[in-house]
Formats: sequence, C-alpha cells, structure tokens
Amino acid sequence: MKTYLLPRREAYLPLVAGYASHPHNRRTLYNALIIVFSIGLNLFFVVSYYNRPQPPPPLRQNPLDHYQGLNTFPLVNQDTLSKSLSSRTFNPEEHAVVTTLYTDAFAPAVATLGHSLRKANTSARLILLYLPEKVSPSALCVATSSGFVAQPVARIPPPNNGEGAHPHFLDQFTKLTLWKLDQQGIKSLVYLDADTLVRRNFDELFTFPFNFGAVPDVYLDDNGFILGFNAGVLFLRPSTTVFNQMVSQIATADFPHLEAEQSFLNHYFGAEAVRLPYAYNGNLAIKQRAPEMWNRTAHERRIVHFTLAKPFLMGDYERVPWYELEERVVEVAGYEDGAYKEETMWWGEMFKEMKHTYAKQLHKCFRHSSSRFSASSTS
Ligand SMILES: *[C@@H]1O[C@H](CO)[C@@H](O)[C@H](O)[C@H]1NC(C)=O
Ligand SMILES: *[C@@H]1O[C@H](CO)[C@@H](O)[C@H](O)[C@H]1NC(C)=O
Repeated sequence: MKTYLLPRREAYLPLVAGYASHPHNRRTLYNALIIVFSIGLNLFFVVSYYNRPQPPPPLRQNPLDHYQGLNTFPLVNQDTLSKSLSSRTFNPEEHAVVTTLYTDAFAPAVATLGHSLRKANTSARLILLYLPEKVSPSALCVATSSGFVAQPVARIPPPNNGEGAHPHFLDQFTKLTLWKLDQQGIKSLVYLDADTLVRRNFDELFTFPFNFGAVPDVYLDDNGFILGFNAGVLFLRPSTTVFNQMVSQIATADFPHLEAEQSFLNHYFGAEAVRLPYAYNGNLAIKQRAPEMWNRTAHERRIVHFTLAKPFLMGDYERVPWYELEERVVEVAGYEDGAYKEETMWWGEMFKEMKHTYAKQLHKCFRHSSSRFSASSTS
C-alpha cells in the first residue's frame, strides 16, 4: 500500500461537543469553516459555470464552408467523354431526363425546364410522369409544350398514410416509378425536380457506370453541408427489380418520414450512392450558405435548383395564374433583398423565351373556355 496516499489525520475535523470550546480549537474551527465555505463557493461557481446557458456551437468549418476555389480544372475529362458519347454503343434513345407533375401549380415550371433542356442540346428523351387524377388537361398541355412526353403513373402512397410527412411531400413516393422505366428500354436517366433549370448540357451523366448518384444536401442551419443527398436531382439506372424491392420496403424500413422519399432513398442507398459534384444540383441554399463557393463554381453549374425561392409559386405552394407569372418572377427576385435575383431572372427569361418559342402549342392549351388553368388561381 502506498502510504502517502492516506489522508493525514489533521485533515479531518471532528465536530464533537466540547471540542469547539477550547480557544485554540475555536480558531481551528473558524479556519475549517472558512475553508469549507470557500470550497463550497468554488464548487458553486464551477457548477454554475458548466451549467450556464451555452452559446450556439460554432459552425463546423468543413472544406465547403471554407471553399477557396483552389482547383480550377474542369469537372469532366472531355477526351474520355467524347470517346464515350461518339461510341457506337451510345444510343440517346436509351437515356432520359425525367421530371414529374403532381399538381397543376408546377406545369409552367415543367415547360420552362423542358425549354432549358432543349437549349442545352440534351440528347436524351424527355419524359414527364404525371398523376392523371391531380393534373388538369390544360396544365398537362402546358407542361408538355416544350418537349416533355407525358406518361400517366399510379400514385405511390407514403407510409402510415403520410403521417409525419411534410404536407408538400405526400405524393413524392411516386418518384420511385422512375426505376420502372427500364421497361421502356431506358438504361440510364437523370431525374430533375420541376423546380430546376438547366444551364448547361450534362450528357456526360449518361455515360456514368454506376447505378445511383446524387448531390449532397445543404442546410442553412448547423447541419450545413451534409453527407445525405438531395433527391431533387438523381442519376439512376432503372430496374424493375430494384423498384419492386424498394416498394416492398417502404412500409417496414426505419427512416424519419418528414422528408418522405428523400429520406427513404438516403436510407436505401446510404452506402452506395455516388456523390455527384454540386454543379449538378445548384441548390440555392449553397448561394446563401457559401456565396464564395457559389460564385467560383458558377461556370461549371449545369443545373440550378430553386429550393429557397420558387419563381412560379405563391403562398403555400399555390399556383400562379399563367398571365401573372412574369409579375410573380419580379416579386420573387426581390425576396431577401434580392438574394436570388440573378437566378430568379434566369428562370423568368427562360419562361418568356419558352412562351414565345412554343406560342402555337400553348395557344391550344388555353383554347377552351373551360380551361381553368389560365384564369383561376386555385390549384
Ligand atoms: C446546340 O446545338 C446547336 C446546333 O448544333 C448549336 O448552334 C448550339 O450552339 C448548341 N448549344 C449549346 C448550348 O451547346
Ligand atoms: C459573386 O459575384 C458577383 C458578380 O458576379 C459579385 O457581385 C459578388 O460580390 C460575388 N460574391 C462573392 C461572395 O464573391
């Protein structure tokens, strides 16, 4: 036993009757009380220091929050790409860009997206999956005016009847239908949410050998640049076998229901998803969070994703009447002191150009007086 660890006797001050009456003992007692009091006071300060209201932790400084534009080389190796695209085995008919329409409110966005894809000389087929029970004929007519070919699909309901899911995402499990497109001879596809706009050709994605790829998501709060992906832009190789397996797992898989299919897909492909560059999902949240990165990567950006400002909606995801859309764009451009003005105006310009380019087709959409799409503002 190491005796030096034993407490010295003097350290103990037995407070027994009579002990305190001796003057020498009284002084010792005073000293002891002062020591006890000061230890108590120190303890109090230490405890209250650790229990004080905590300031928010500093944002984790990851390389994206700290972006410096060090790498100035292009994303894609042109030499490899041109070989792949000109190869005899590359058939544009086997590739598709697919979007979805679950409500009339997004019809002008689909038409605008279609025009932006055509302007970028996208070689793939353009396919629009829509819910026939939710989309009016005139809205479908508008959505397909610039080249998307419509296909009705059956709604895939969210688990638990949508309990716990964000009210805007109740139809989003229908997105899994993408995996059934192998039945139409499609070998690879890029899915784009209707609130995206194409700025540059991205045909290189169709030469990607992997089965699934997506761009990591970005939050404005402490979460920041996360590992999980945003489901607004997906690269995938359709497979009915995968589709069947996914659908059979929706009800039993353990995942938070709030973000619906995005959460499910992140759990499904958690370990297999290939991280695509941010250029493929130019989420406006990046502009807000890392303006430097947004600026310095602008020249490579293929797709802008209008997450934080939707130039074609008003209120709570409500439809903007056709003839008020241009006015609406100007309003949204003024949001947050014009934080997304430049991008919103890109959308507005593309919309105007689309209206002009496809005026004849669009005219047919509004021909019938029964067309509620152009006049009323309810969706
Ligand atoms: C698309 O193709 C046309 C005709 O070949 C060409 O004039 C135009 O520059 C191309 N646009 C882009 C963005 O590559
Ligand atoms: C980004 O670029 C724009 C001009 O293109 C400039 O006005 C702005 O200050 C730049 N922002 C940052 C953070 O570099």
